[in-house]
Amino acid sequence: MVAKDRIIFALDVGTIKEAHEWVKLLGTQVGWFKVGLELFSAEGPAVVGIIKESGLRCFLDLKFHDIPNTVYGAVRSATKLRADMMTIHISGGADMIRAALKAAQEEALSCGISTPKIIGVSMLTSLNQEDLGDMGIHRPVKDHVKSMVALACKNSIDGIVCSPADLAFVRAHIPARTTVITPGIRPDWASKGDQKRIASPQAAIRAGADLLVIGRPISQADDPVEAVKRIVGEIDSR
Ligand code: C5P
Repeated sequence: MVAKDRIIFALDVGTIKEAHEWVKLLGTQVGWFKVGLELFSAEGPAVVGIIKESGLRCFLDLKFHDIPNTVYGAVRSATKLRADMMTIHISGGADMIRAALKAAQEEALSCGISTPKIIGVSMLTSLNQEDLGDMGIHRPVKDHVKSMVALACKNSIDGIVCSPADLAFVRAHIPARTTVITPGIRPDWASKGDQKRIASPQAAIRAGADLLVIGRPISQADDPVEAVKRIVGEIDSR
């Protein structure tokens, strides 16, 4: 895979106008654009439209988590929008995971398009050991992530989102075909922001990541295009 196709730029903006400007600026530089809850709640399906109409790939990160029947419907709708990948919470359980995969396949077949990938969030990177305890989960974070990943893979999920800290461990426990995606990417020259468990682009890929979600190191750079080029160079030199 060429380095640029490993980069998912996070469109963490509130308006379609800003999103469109980023798509125009970075469309030839990165492989993917991520639409999350903020932008989708503000502007809806039209945002996916501007990415797809530009011939680019969309990672719809809405982290579906509901009863299987509802997630089935949500994934069918997102597939109809032509999202190329979308997220669910693995903690929704086996039936929910299978409903998501089935919906993606059935809707893609009926639209005559390729099946989007269903990506499972193993554990939110904002949670720690204490938070797990508060939810009555009394086991080490790593064991929890391991169970989540095992559940997802047992049900044939297409990919996993995990923190950079868990990459090597997750990679070692999943089939080779399963895509691994990680946020928390910080090149050495970028500010850390609120990210704690971080990795550089090279380190994340060496540890087993296929795709990197990157926002502020690009969006807050003085020259975002130059920042992407530096990141691509670093990935290539790993
Ligand atoms: O920190 P950065 O701006 O690169 O974040 C890009 C994306 O990564 C955000 O859209 C957010 O959803 C995701 N993220 C995450 N876990 C974090 C921080 C950010 O999943 N700890």
